Amino acid sequence: MIILGGSSGNGIDESVAKLLGVRHVKLETTKFPDGEMKVRIPERFDDDTAVIIQSAPYPQERNLFELMFIADDIRERVGNIIAVIPYMAYARQDKSFTQGEAISVNTVLKLLRNSGVGALVVVNPHKSEPLAKFGGTVEIINAVGTLTKKVKESVEKPLIMSPDISGVPMAKAAAEALGCEFTYIEKKRESSTQTTITQTHGGDFNGKDVVIFDDMISTGSTVEPAATFAYAQGARSVSAAAIHLVMVNGALERMRKAGVKRLFGTNTIAFKDAELADISGDVAECISRLTKYKEMKLSTFS
Ligand code: R5P
Repeated sequence: MIILGGSSGNGIDESVAKLLGVRHVKLETTKFPDGEMKVRIPERFDDDTAVIIQSAPYPQERNLFELMFIADDIRERVGNIIAVIPYMAYARQDKSFTQGEAISVNTVLKLLRNSGVGALVVVNPHKSEPLAKFGGTVEIINAVGTLTKKVKESVEKPLIMSPDISGVPMAKAAAEALGCEFTYIEKKRESSTQTTITQTHGGDFNGKDVVIFDDMISTGSTVEPAATFAYAQGARSVSAAAIHLVMVNGALERMRKAGVKRLFGTNTIAFKDAELADISGDVAECISRLTKYKEMKLSTFS
């Protein structure tokens, strides 16, 4: 087995190779004068399983194409290709929200499959059901435990709060891991950059270090009102923790203004202004499990 690290591997590629004791090669990418990308594997290999590790935050298309160019190029000579996409772009576009809208996640999954990817590994996708359309093996890594350990290192009197109803199971799991209380609020999305709170569900905020726990932070429009609410209820401090720190449109500034003191995330996205937990161990464990499984049931990867 060989690990091929993409330009958006975020160091997970090197660490996973070390943890599994296998060879690691970093992909080389260059640009033609017209902007087209060229990808190259700078070393020869003859392994039967290739694991390509490439996250897909902005620039999403570029990151996905880098992975697919390599997968398609090696598919004839490699028995199994596993694509590890820690942050899976387009996973939220799983239906037509307005009439005529393309369901982008379906296209991305088809392209990956048609590029020869046999197994897809994704960390906490927004929803897992749409990934079933991939047609090959799909493994979902749950990085809540790893993120929670990071939070535990520095938050003294935590109260975990889910900022919306869909995040309740994840936030509850985080609260259980921390051995602390949990509450949630409900939100209405007014626009892609604005949410308002529609319901609250109690909780003892007084003197607590509230941690708003979510799967991702994009514009900060979910965290901002949640933080303001937590302070109004008597929180001593408010932090935010999310698996994927997409962080666009000045999200950090917006959250800071709302009083968010600390920001925790994982290295599925290399956001530098946060305390990041390393998910390499979770990925290594998943690949190890997948490849052992493969020995028993080769057809899974075909
Ligand atoms: C949505 O349901 C997700 O769990 C996140 O709450 C959302 O994607 C965060 O986006 P934003 O930071 O733009 O509010």
